[in-house]
Amino acid sequence: MFSSVQKRYLEARTLRILVSLEERCNRILRNMEASLTARDRVGIQDFVLLDTYTSETACLDNLRKRFHENLIYTYIGTLLVSVNPYKELDIYSKKQMDTYMGVNFFELPPHIYALADNAFRTMMSEFNNHFILISGESGAGKTEASKKILQFYAVSCPSTKVLNNVRDRLLLSNPVLEAFGNAKTLKNDNSSRFGKYMDIQFDHQGGAVGGHILSYLLEKSRVVHQNHGERNFHIFYQLVEGGEEDLLRWLGLERNCKHYRYLVQGNCAKVSSINDKSDWKTVRKALSVIDLSESDIENLFGIIASVLHMGNIKFEADARGYAMLNNNQEMQWVSKLLGIPNQVLQQGLTHRKIEAKSEEVFSPFSVDHAVYARDALAKAIYGRTFSWLVNKINESLANMDSSRKTVIGLLDIYGFEVFSVNSFEQFCINYCNEKLQQLFIELTLKSEQEEYEMEGIEWEPVPYFNNKIICDLVEEKFRGIISLLDEECLRPGEATDLTFLEKMEDKIGGHPHFVTHKLADQKTRKTLKRGDFRLLHYAGEVTYCVVGFLDKNNDLLYRNGKEVMRQSKNAIIKHCFPSTEPDSKRRPETVVTQFKNSLVGLTEILMMKEPWYVRCIKPNEAKQPGHFDDVLVRHQVKYLGLMEHLRVRRAGFAYRRKYEIFLQRYKPLCPDTWPNWKGTAAEGVRCLIKHLGYKSDEYKMGRTKIFIRHPRTLFATEDAFQVCKHKLATRIQAKYKGYKVKGDYLKQREAATKIETCWRGMMARRERQRRAWAVKVIKKFIKGFMNRHQPACTDNSEYLTFVRHSYLTRLKENLPKTILEKDSWLTPPPILQEVSQVLKKIYIRHMVRKYVRGITPQRKAQLLLKAQTSALFKGKKENYPFSVCRPFADTRICAEDISIKVLQMIQHEKVKYSVPVVKYDRNGFRPRLRQLIFTQEAAYLVEEAKIKQRIDYSSLKGVSVSNLSDNFLILHVTCDDSKQKGDLVLQCDFLFEALTKLSVIVNKQNCIHVVQGSVRFDIQPGREGFVDFKSGQESMVYRAKNGHLMVESTKTKSR
Ligand SMILES: Nc1ncnc2c1ncn2[C@@H]1O[C@H](COP(=O)(O)OP(=O)(O)OP(=O)(O)O)[C@@H](O)[C@H]1O
Ligand SMILES: [Mg+2]
Repeated sequence: MFSSVQKRYLEARTLRILVSLEERCNRILRNMEASLTARDRVGIQDFVLLDTYTSETACLDNLRKRFHENLIYTYIGTLLVSVNPYKELDIYSKKQMDTYMGVNFFELPPHIYALADNAFRTMMSEFNNHFILISGESGAGKTEASKKILQFYAVSCPSTKVLNNVRDRLLLSNPVLEAFGNAKTLKNDNSSRFGKYMDIQFDHQGGAVGGHILSYLLEKSRVVHQNHGERNFHIFYQLVEGGEEDLLRWLGLERNCKHYRYLVQGNCAKVSSINDKSDWKTVRKALSVIDLSESDIENLFGIIASVLHMGNIKFEADARGYAMLNNNQEMQWVSKLLGIPNQVLQQGLTHRKIEAKSEEVFSPFSVDHAVYARDALAKAIYGRTFSWLVNKINESLANMDSSRKTVIGLLDIYGFEVFSVNSFEQFCINYCNEKLQQLFIELTLKSEQEEYEMEGIEWEPVPYFNNKIICDLVEEKFRGIISLLDEECLRPGEATDLTFLEKMEDKIGGHPHFVTHKLADQKTRKTLKRGDFRLLHYAGEVTYCVVGFLDKNNDLLYRNGKEVMRQSKNAIIKHCFPSTEPDSKRRPETVVTQFKNSLVGLTEILMMKEPWYVRCIKPNEAKQPGHFDDVLVRHQVKYLGLMEHLRVRRAGFAYRRKYEIFLQRYKPLCPDTWPNWKGTAAEGVRCLIKHLGYKSDEYKMGRTKIFIRHPRTLFATEDAFQVCKHKLATRIQAKYKGYKVKGDYLKQREAATKIETCWRGMMARRERQRRAWAVKVIKKFIKGFMNRHQPACTDNSEYLTFVRHSYLTRLKENLPKTILEKDSWLTPPPILQEVSQVLKKIYIRHMVRKYVRGITPQRKAQLLLKAQTSALFKGKKENYPFSVCRPFADTRICAEDISIKVLQMIQHEKVKYSVPVVKYDRNGFRPRLRQLIFTQEAAYLVEEAKIKQRIDYSSLKGVSVSNLSDNFLILHVTCDDSKQKGDLVLQCDFLFEALTKLSVIVNKQNCIHVVQGSVRFDIQPGREGFVDFKSGQESMVYRAKNGHLMVESTKTKSR
């Protein structure tokens, strides 16, 4: 999983890669052009672009211009020149870090972050180790630069909870080491008094997973002595100023630096630029973060306090001139804090142990000796505690994971320094700077030029000052100053600092970089004291006072001093003075030899890594912001070799790689070289760069390497590679995914086929069983069918059951819905004839009952009437069927429509039924509309308010109707009186209704006659008439020629 910072980093990177290469190049050019147009104001960002690049003055002008604009960084190719601004600049924010993340040189203004980021990215892409060499004289800003780099990595590298832990420790190791190893000097208020090389270890994802610190020669003499204007190590002042009351009480300290002899020799315990109180808090917190336990911290402060107390121990001469303690109180504190019995401690500080044969004798010290022994002990305690602290920090930074790591080393060493009085420490520091300058020359000026020559690249050598001559003067075996010093330290007899000086004069007297009072010419002699020697260092002349060289080089602790310390109960002191340490019989290596060897080791470490350089320049001696001292800067530009470096850069090539390596990395960029190139690597590279379109002045082909002149050419290639890498990765990924998916698909297909086969087999078996079963069933069915008429037996029993079941089921579903449908009864199979009849009967009865129970009394009366009608007319009169569906009404003329007069006349008889009729005159057969009213007693023919004829039922002989579809009825009456009216010929639309009602009222079943052909009727008694009926095309009524009333009716239609 990526952390958020890593993601951000990758996103920023990917985004940048996506910007097309052309645009990228244009941006670089634009940036360069911008710097050119702004040349007058802010100088030039890269000295390589300077027209007068050989002029030191032009170079200086550029630095000055930029310095006054607060532009403290300038490039020479990939080397960064940094001028100390001596003020806080707003260029180290998180935003700035983000801006510089994943950006190549020259795309943004020069910055220490750009260098740090490029070192980091090169390490990630090439998976190799790097170091950043930060050099410059004391106060030039090396330590600050190294802190900025560390902070940049802390923010820009991917982080996780574990990594954050490492990050915090890496960051917080700085304030701790600075508190114990830095001090205010005349040159720098925070001067590193030890050399520091720090490896930051990165895992393959770029996470900072661990670190390791190598420390070089701490200036221990500062513990007991400081020059005027200088201070002891910061930690002493921090403890006294910032320590909590309880702590100070416990340590027996007072909150007053002036109280301690070791803190006041420089007479400047308080410095305005240093805040000891707040620094104390930082250090206190940092100590617990770097894994120091509370007891470790207690012991550590016990040691610091005991050193301060030790400094206050005073001796007086007793009567014999031997040293004796003047005040026992300080001694008691030392004894308490270091956990050493007071007596033992006193003895150790005032006596020397001498071994004589088998006896041990204690010889008392003189006062001077006692003071010397005290100071030596204080130095030894502090120096060893410092080493213990570095080890502790290393333990807390150690990465236990054994997988391969890449590292970036940060080298921040004490800078070259010159004081009015320079001693052994300055000699070592300046020698160290000589070595680093030598390394720089080796890696840049010398080896680079040699390489061009070796590779057969046309080259005009750039002359430079090689400081090897000074290095040799100092370190050459047998003849060098170090050898002479050691010789003098080790030789028997009375060796003193002066005998050492004489020895040097004797052995190296003629060396051009060495001079002493005795060797100097008249003019120089004036500037040298008798005990001085002067070295002409690469960075300038330094006059060393020889006093103390031998002592400091021997760094001797009297033997019983060590023994006393071994008795300590303080765990740190116990650890620092182990009982396994060889005693003084076998002399340990001298300080300077140890230092020399450690520098050789450091050089070896650095030579195995890829270098990056930061050259720090100090703008003035007064630590003033905005003040640019031309002479001072020019001097530094000169001795730092910047001009030579610029010349080599300008004429040379920014980048070189073996053909094999170059081809291996960039071969995906050309179709001819990808994926494999058959020819030699050089030919492959030639083909590749031709494809990439390198111009002839952009590169040179050496014997084994390609040389690329400008970084931008390489950056463009690298960017193209980054883009291509993603494409290739996508392609490989796609292929792999395809391959995997195909594999999966084939597996699935095989599985599916297998399942399908099994499934089909099972289905086929099931089908076969089903069919076999079906055959059996069908066979049985056919057999049953064939034997269906046989009496029940095994052959047909099932079939018959089936037939029964099937019939009954079908019957259930097809029962007649109404009684009228009873004929649609399902025809039964022969064996169920009887059952069917019984069922039909039951069912019909059931339906009938249901129907009967369901009808209303009115409806029942209606139906009874209808039954009567049916009995009268069914099958007799042609239009009867059409009347069946027409329900009967109680009456056809409502009471209001009958004249009141008529009603009054007949109401006593109870009107039963009335209907409109057409009456045909007896003479002439003219039709007249009349009302026919049936009462209980008689039938009346009414014309409005007039009763035209009353027919008593007793006189009603009968009623005739035809068998055809007409609606004619003839009421035959008994006619005795000739004045009486005769029979009535009527036409009534409700013929069946009216006649049925009449038959019911009259209660004579057979008074209605259905006749065929013609009906005779009495017009009046004795006079007869006829009505003829016949079927015709049309219904019509007319008087026929024979005087009969002809009634024609259509055959099918009824009115
Ligand atoms: N980039 C910077 N921004 C602001 N101030 C700076 C910067 N670099 C250096 N300084 C100032 O200069 C002072 C000295 O710098 P630094 O301690 O880094 O010098 P140095 O080269 O390590 O010296 P020495 O060799 O004595 O250790 C710092 O304390 C700080 O005040
Ligand atoms: Mg420093």
